[in-house]
Amino acid sequence: MMADRPPVAADPPDAHHAPVLLAEVLKGLAVRAGAWVIDCTLGGGGHTEAILAASAPDGRVLGIDADPAAIRRVAERLADAVAASRLVLHQGPFELLEEAAAAHGFAPVDGVLLDLGVSSFQLQTPERGFSFGLTGPLDMRFDPAQPLSAADIVNEWDEQALADVIYRYGEEPKSRRIARYLVKHRPFATTAQLAEAIEKAVGGRRGARIHPATRTFQALRIVVNRELQQLERVLPQALRLLRPGGRLAVITFHSLEDRIVKHWMLAEARGDAPDSNRMEERMEGGSQRWPALRILTKKPITPTAEEMRLNPRSRSAKLRIAEKLPTTQSDT
Ligand SMILES: C[S@@+](CC[C@H](N)C(=O)[O-])C[C@H]1O[C@@H](n2cnc3c(N)ncnc32)[C@H](O)[C@@H]1O
Repeated sequence: MMADRPPVAADPPDAHHAPVLLAEVLKGLAVRAGAWVIDCTLGGGGHTEAILAASAPDGRVLGIDADPAAIRRVAERLADAVAASRLVLHQGPFELLEEAAAAHGFAPVDGVLLDLGVSSFQLQTPERGFSFGLTGPLDMRFDPAQPLSAADIVNEWDEQALADVIYRYGEEPKSRRIARYLVKHRPFATTAQLAEAIEKAVGGRRGARIHPATRTFQALRIVVNRELQQLERVLPQALRLLRPGGRLAVITFHSLEDRIVKHWMLAEARGDAPDSNRMEERMEGGSQRWPALRILTKKPITPTAEEMRLNPRSRSAKLRIAEKLPTTQSDT
C-alpha cells in the first residue's frame, strides 16, 4: 500500500544553509576574477554566492540542483547575479553534467564543485521526509518529480532487498532484524512511524550515540536518489569539462561517498582509471600511463573544531581537491 503524500508546503523560514568548509573550498578551487565555475549542488547557494564574490566583477557560475525548490529560492535570493548573467541556474541531476554545461555554454571551466548530500532547508522541511526528527511523509526525493520515494521502498520491497540496502548503504549491522520487523509491521506513512519502528526493531536506544534510525534513513535516501551512481557518473564528466589547470572540489559526508571520490582521484592521478581522458593515448602508447589529474589533498580537509561547533552538520565533512593536468603536449 502506498502512503498518501501531502502537497509540498512552503519552505521553513529559518532554513539558512551555512556552507561547509567555505574558505577551504574557495582556496582549493583557486577562484580568481573572471573565473567560470560549475556548482553541481547549488542547495541554498552559499558556496555559489562566495564564488561569485571571489570571481567578481565578471566571473560566472552555473548552479545545478535536482531540487526545483533550491533553484527557486536561489533565483530569488541572488536575483541580481541572475539578472547580470553572472549566475545561470539549471534544474536537473548532476549525472547529466555535460549536457547541462553544453546547454548553457559552460565548457571549459576553471572549477567544479560538488557538496554532496542534503541541504538544511530540505532537512528542515517536514514534507520532504528527510528527517526522522520531524514528522512528514516518507519521501526523501531531491527531485519530487522522480518516481521512486522512500515509501515505495519501505512498503513494497521484499525483506531480502530491504535488508540488503540497509546493510549496504546504511552500513547498518542490524539490517536483517530491521528489515524483518519493517516487513511485518508495514505499511508506514510517516518518518516518525518508521523511526519508531526501527527503534523497536533494535530493542530501543540503549545509550546509542546516534538515533537507531540514522543509518536506515541514510540508506533509503541514497537509494531513492541513486546517490552513489550519480557520483560515479559525474566525476569523469567534471574532469572532461575542466580546462587544464582547472580544479575540482568534492565535499562528502559519509564513507561510501568518500571512498568513491578517493579511489577515482587516485586512479586518475595514476592514469589508470577505466574512462580516463587519456584512454586513447594509453592504448596507443601501450603500457605508458598518463595521469589526468594531480591530487592536491593527500588527506581530505576536515572542518576545524570551531566550524563543527558553529555548524554541527559539518562534522562528518571531508573535502578533496584535484587539479586537471594538460591532456596533450599542446595544452601545456
Ligand atoms: C549539501 S547541499 C549543497 C549546499 C550548498 N553548497 C550551499 O552552500 O548552500 C546539496 C544539494 O545538492 C542537491 N543534490 C544532491 N544530489 C544531487 C544530484 N544528483 N543532482 C543534482 N542535485 C543534487 C540537493 O538537492 C541539495 O540541494
